[in-house]
Amino acid sequence: MYAATAREKPMTVPALADAKRDGRKLVMLTCYDAGFARVMDAAGIDLVLVGDSLGMVVQGHGSTLPVTVDDIAYHTACVARGLSRALLIADLPFQSDASAEIALQASTRFLRAGAAMVKLEGAGHKLDTIRHLVEREIPVCAHLGLTPQSVLRLGGYKVQGRGEDAAEKLCADARAVERAGASLLVLECVPSSLAAAVSEEVSIPTIGIGAGPSCDGQVLVLHDLLGVDSGHRRPKFVKDFLREGGSLAGAMQAFAAAVRDGSFPAAEHSYE
Ligand code: KIV
Repeated sequence: MYAATAREKPMTVPALADAKRDGRKLVMLTCYDAGFARVMDAAGIDLVLVGDSLGMVVQGHGSTLPVTVDDIAYHTACVARGLSRALLIADLPFQSDASAEIALQASTRFLRAGAAMVKLEGAGHKLDTIRHLVEREIPVCAHLGLTPQSVLRLGGYKVQGRGEDAAEKLCADARAVERAGASLLVLECVPSSLAAAVSEEVSIPTIGIGAGPSCDGQVLVLHDLLGVDSGHRRPKFVKDFLREGGSLAGAMQAFAAAVRDGSFPAAEHSYE
């Protein structure tokens, strides 16, 4: 089992590229408060995301759309107080990245609250925003595949990138976000073979959620890791690690170990 020690160096943005180069899997969880953040840090979680999933798992909404910049800034400040090693990423909520300039304002608040990187969904016009942020010293994590802020257009939370055209578009978007300056790429709900191809093609680390075992790291929503019923249908890629870990810290350590030894996600958590 992994146990973080006080001597361990904090995760940095350049260390992400080192991990991919050295073939070390990155372990990421979502988090919304300082108490859980402390346990994650001690369990050796590399990346902690204040996700806009907080709209669904903390606030009880049916989607992430109601989440505001104030919400993410508040939870980012809470989580930052609990971390000493993990790299903290804050999600740009719905429409806070509608233009490069408003994304810069929101991102600046998140970095002042303790984040080291911001995450945004999509490519297209968001490529200008990624460039705008990166040129202004704000590291960016991109997010492709199932982008929950597009739920109305997509008509639900569905696997993306199936079929040749959709797969090619996703590969092209992945190359484009890398060129725009993103340092990390979340791939959500895409076939394993496509996620493997993207991970091979881009030099930035990919972090999968429902994207099979070949990504450079994995992320789960905290409530899913702990088997908490958040009132929504449990997706196939979710595994209750509390059952095998036996405690909060044990669940996080079991998740980290399974990601690092490649046993999670298994075929039953992945899409073809
Ligand atoms: O908001 C979130 O929690 C996320 C993860 C599922 C990657 O975007």
